[in-house]
Amino acid sequence: MTGARLRRLLVLGHWLLAPVLASTASAATEACTVPVAGEERSANLESGRRAFLKCRACHTLGEGERHLVGPNLWHMFRRPAGSAAGFSYSPAIRPDLGPWTNDSLDRFLAQPSKALPGNRMVFAGLSNPAERAHVIVYLRQHTGDPQPGCQP
Ligand code: HEC
Repeated sequence: MTGARLRRLLVLGHWLLAPVLASTASAATEACTVPVAGEERSANLESGRRAFLKCRACHTLGEGERHLVGPNLWHMFRRPAGSAAGFSYSPAIRPDLGPWTNDSLDRFLAQPSKALPGNRMVFAGLSNPAERAHVIVYLRQHTGDPQPGCQP
């Protein structure tokens, strides 16, 4: 192939892909609001993805993925807390807490050891409320219960 043809192909490829790349980027970074603890917090999926880097050594999110140090979180907003099949929880994460909600997760992630004493999640917490809102939106998106208005 000649240099000129290769250049034309690259230009064409860029022209075809640019709108696709641009639309994914804007969907992920577009701010939405999420109701948490009685207020509407601004959040976006891209910041949520970055916040989840702090969790992902221990948690998978997708359906049927394996447990790591922590349980797989698929459907965590609709199944009772502490009920992922095949994971052995501490007594602190109890099914009678019901499914996780934006509010209960916000409290838990702020300071896990204080919110549910005795739990075995070795994680100091996310002290920034905005970061918690981002990660909540991201978790919802990837565990099968997207936050209305926040999905790409
Ligand atoms: C060092 C590993 C580790 C890290 C990091 C970690 N977790 Fe966990 N997580 C665990 C373990 C272990 C449990 C189970 C605790 C128990 O049984 O007491 C857990 C439990 C949970 C639960 C309850 C799951 C259920 O089925 O009810 C949620 C939700 C959760 N983690 C979310 C997060 C999020 C979000 C982050 C990041 C901000 C995070 N975790 C960071 C290890 C971790």
